[in-house]
Amino acid sequence: MALDRFGRHIHYLRISLTDHCNLRCVYCMPEDMTFRPNAELMQDEEVLLLVRMFAGLGFDKYRLTGGEPTVRANVVELVRAMAATPGVRSLSMTTNGVLLKRLARPLAEAGLQRVNVSIDTLDAEKFRRLTRWGSLEDVWQGILAAEEAGLEPVKLNAVVVRGYNERDVVDLARLTVEHPWQLRFIEMMPFAGATELQQSQMVTAEEVLARLEAAFGPLELTRNGDLDGEARVYHIPGAQGEVGVIASVTQPFCAACTRARLTADGRLRLCLLREGEVDLLTPLRAGATLEELRQLVLDGVWHKPWGHGLAEGVIPLNRVMSEIGG
Ligand code: 5AD
Ligand code: SF4
Repeated sequence: MALDRFGRHIHYLRISLTDHCNLRCVYCMPEDMTFRPNAELMQDEEVLLLVRMFAGLGFDKYRLTGGEPTVRANVVELVRAMAATPGVRSLSMTTNGVLLKRLARPLAEAGLQRVNVSIDTLDAEKFRRLTRWGSLEDVWQGILAAEEAGLEPVKLNAVVVRGYNERDVVDLARLTVEHPWQLRFIEMMPFAGATELQQSQMVTAEEVLARLEAAFGPLELTRNGDLDGEARVYHIPGAQGEVGVIASVTQPFCAACTRARLTADGRLRLCLLREGEVDLLTPLRAGATLEELRQLVLDGVWHKPWGHGLAEGVIPLNRVMSEIGG
C-alpha cells in the first residue's frame, strides 16, 4: 500500500497516454505546440508493465488522460489489457470527445467503464475559438455515442475562461435538466504554455455558482456537500443530472488527495501543480528490476507534497498540461 508522510493512501493513478492532441484549447497549449517524439513516450508494453506494478502496490483506480488519449495508436488494445490486469477495479478516461463517435463502443467493449468529455460551450463558433479548430458537432456525437455505449454516468467538463465562455455556463448546466449527466465547471489552473491567459482570465467556482443561481434559482447541494472526486455537486431542482464545481484554485482539495500521475514520458508526478517528478521510464529502460521500480514509487509517494502553492504564487512551469494529464 502506498502511503505518504501525511497519512494519505495514494491509490488512484492518472496515466497520460500521449502529450499529443487533435485540438489546441487556448487554456491548455499554444497554437504552435510541438509534441514529443513517440520514442520518448512510454510504449505499450512499458505502460502495461507499470500498470501491473502499480496495481501490485494497491493502486485500484485508473484514469487515462492526455493530451488526448484517443489519438494514441492501439488505445483500444491498451484499454483491454489494462482492464484485464488484476487489481484494476476502476478504469475511465478523460477525452475531448472528438473521436468518441467511432471509439466509444470498442472502448466500452474492451473494458473502459466511464468517460469524462470536455465541452466548454454549446455555441459552435465559441467552441471553435476556444479549441482553435474543434467541431462542436463531433464532440456532441461523441457524447451521445458514449452514453449509448454505456460509458455512464457521462461526465462533462467545462473550463471557464473569462472573455470566452463565462456566460455559457447556464446553457451547459441546462443540459442536466433533460440528461442524467454531470456537468462540471473547472477553475482554470496555471501551467506553462498559456500562463498569462490562465492567470488573468480565470473564473472562480463562486462566480459560476452565482451565475447558475441567477438563472435557475437556489441550487440544492447533494451528497451532504461531500466531494464527488474533486467536485462539489449540486442539483437544479427537477433536473435529471447534476452540476458540479471544481474549485482547484480557490478551494484546494489537497487534504483528501489520493492520486498520483504518470506523465506520457513515464515520470511519476506526485502533484499536478508541483514540478517534482520521479523518473520511472529511464530506469525501466536501463534494466531496473521490478523491486527497484516499486521502491522508486513508494519513496516518491512518501514525499508527495502536501498541496499546491498557487496561493503563494508558485506555478509549475516545467510542463504544459497536456504532458501531465488533467
Ligand atoms: N486548467 C484547468 N483545466 C484544464 N484542462 C486543460 N487545461 C486546463 C487548465 N489550465 C482540462 C481540460 C480537460 C482536462 C483534461 O483538463 O478541459 O477537461
Ligand atoms: Fe487537447 Fe484537452 Fe489540451 Fe484541449 S485541453 S488542447 S483537448 S489536451
